[in-house]
Amino acid sequence: MPSEDAGGSLVAISDLHVGYAENRALVEALRPSSPRDWLIVAGDVGDTAADVEWALGLLAERFDTVVWAPGNHELWTPQGDPVTLRGVARYQHLVRRCRELGVLTPEDPYPVWRGPGGPVLVAPLFLLYDYSWRPAGFDTREAALAEAYRTGIVCTDEFLLHPDPYPSRHEWCAARVAETARRLAERDPALPTVLVNHWPLVRESTRVLRYPIFAQWCGTEATADWHRRFGATAVVYGHLHIPRTTWHDGVRFEEVSVGYPREWRRRGVPPGRVRQILPAPDGVPPTAW
Ligand SMILES: [Fe+2]
Ligand SMILES: [Fe+2]
Repeated sequence: MPSEDAGGSLVAISDLHVGYAENRALVEALRPSSPRDWLIVAGDVGDTAADVEWALGLLAERFDTVVWAPGNHELWTPQGDPVTLRGVARYQHLVRRCRELGVLTPEDPYPVWRGPGGPVLVAPLFLLYDYSWRPAGFDTREAALAEAYRTGIVCTDEFLLHPDPYPSRHEWCAARVAETARRLAERDPALPTVLVNHWPLVRESTRVLRYPIFAQWCGTEATADWHRRFGATAVVYGHLHIPRTTWHDGVRFEEVSVGYPREWRRRGVPPGRVRQILPAPDGVPPTAW
């Protein structure tokens, strides 16, 4: 089986937020460095269905393969969007559109990257959050949410991300976690994985948040050991708008967000660049666990 001779790179980006004209321009300028490059898009492409389709369609024309995992913004039902679907129906609509565009989603068989650094199973996940990353001293979901309202740090998901037909976002999350764990457990254990999820898999990633109370909308305790349990050589996520590389149990975690113009303008590095996931960039040690 050929594995190392195909060329190209597996690269990643997230939080394109193409509703902003400056971010749209970044996507228009985004091109592969090799015709064999695969692009991971880890959620928050845009707020309207049309924006999401525009960006993924453009990228699918340019990259050999595009792998998408939804973010919270794709799941919003914003006022003025002609697509008024909510919750699961909205997600399924986006999955159908991705299939028409040739973009892989969490609902497809996980593809195998066979280029440099492969073979590796690339698993786009859609896990949501369940308010289990609560601030110390707030023992229930209700208490943590009440504290968030008291302090004024409330995620817009509370108003625009509808869980229908689930009664709540945390119950939708529980269903996604259970089904995804089942699928990952059935994978070929001989292949390492790249786990892709819009929300971070480990709470430690949220320790740098400016408002720690926001962590309740960022992930779930249920995935704390998934990087070890499911053989990850790298984990790709976004959502925090704090791009960086960290290590957990010897596994590389890449936060690959672009973020809003007001955020990337401050950073002093060229915006809109993809992050190389595989082959592992020079100086990155092999997975140690
Ligand atoms: Fe975002
Ligand atoms: Fe997000």
